[in-house]
Parts: sequence; C-alpha cells; structure tokens
Amino acid sequence: MAVLDILTVPNPVLTRKCRLVGPDEFHDGLRTFISDLAETMYAAPGVGLAAPQVGDLRRIIVADPGNAKREEDANGRPRRPRFVAMINPVIVEASRDKITWEEGCLSVPEFNEDVARPRRVLIKWFDEHGRNQQQWFEDYDAVVIQHEMDHLEGTVILDKVSRLKKSRYLSRRTKVRGRDELLVE
Ligand code: NI
Repeated sequence: MAVLDILTVPNPVLTRKCRLVGPDEFHDGLRTFISDLAETMYAAPGVGLAAPQVGDLRRIIVADPGNAKREEDANGRPRRPRFVAMINPVIVEASRDKITWEEGCLSVPEFNEDVARPRRVLIKWFDEHGRNQQQWFEDYDAVVIQHEMDHLEGTVILDKVSRLKKSRYLSRRTKVRGRDELLVE
C-alpha cells in the first residue's frame, strides 16, 4: 500500500479522457493500484478519488461518501473505511430531479462550486475481481460518484464555471505556486 501524489490543475493529465480497463487487466496489479488509490483518498482526506488524479488514465474510481462525516461509529469506535471501487463505471439511468451541492476537489485546491446533478443515478461497473455490479445511488452518494466519473472524461469542477472565474482561479494558483517555489529556493 502506498500513498500516491495527487495531481492538481492545470496539469494536462486531468483534461484527458481515460481508457477502458480491458478484460485481461483484472489481476493483482489492478487490485494493488485500487488499494493505493483508496489509501491516497483516506490520507488526503477525501470522499472520492479517480485514477487520473494520480496520473493513471484508466477508468477507475474509488469513493467513500461516508468518510465526510463518520470518524466514529454509533458506539464511539473508530469506523472502518468502507469504500467502493468502480472499474469502467457507466450511468445507466438518471433521475430528472436534480440536487445542487457545493463541491470541492482534491485536484482543485481551495475552490468550491455549486454543481447541479441528477439526484439519483443507476450505475453499472466492474468490481476489482471483474464481476458485474449495478446499484442505485442517491443524494450525496450520487453526487460523489458522478463527480469522480467526470474525472474519467477529463472534466473537473473548474470546467463547470464561467471562463472568467476559471482563469481568475488559475492565475491565483500560478502565483501561489510561484511563491512556494521561491520559498523552497
Ligand atoms: Ni475531484
């Protein structure tokens, strides 16, 4: 298990469309990668992470929406991480009614934006053993899964705001990064 580096905008890898995982790729290497992806998500800490955020252009996401609020279970014991790993996830059906959530992203530090998405989605995917899975997700769970799936298309929340807001954020980021580099030197 390893904590991987999380890429941030404007890294061009985050704009790439990811490729499908092939049937011959479901081996131990894939499962190790998924463990690393989950460990990286918990270390951040975050509620979801997509493979391209660590520089891997395969259609893989991990998510644990409960990680946002549960540090202890009902009995006051530390909760066990319980994440879902999805390979080649697809939205089969989506509700017409929407939910608006103020989203953040580990790849877009210090930025939040209200995003409207379908409130309920039926997702099908392969688990890490190559088995077919299908399940409805709703409310916050649906938000997290859809956010992570956007990453597989090369889309981040910054792509959902006006061009002006996006360029302002990016120039602020570039200045901050430039300053950090000066401090390092
Ligand atoms: Ni994200």
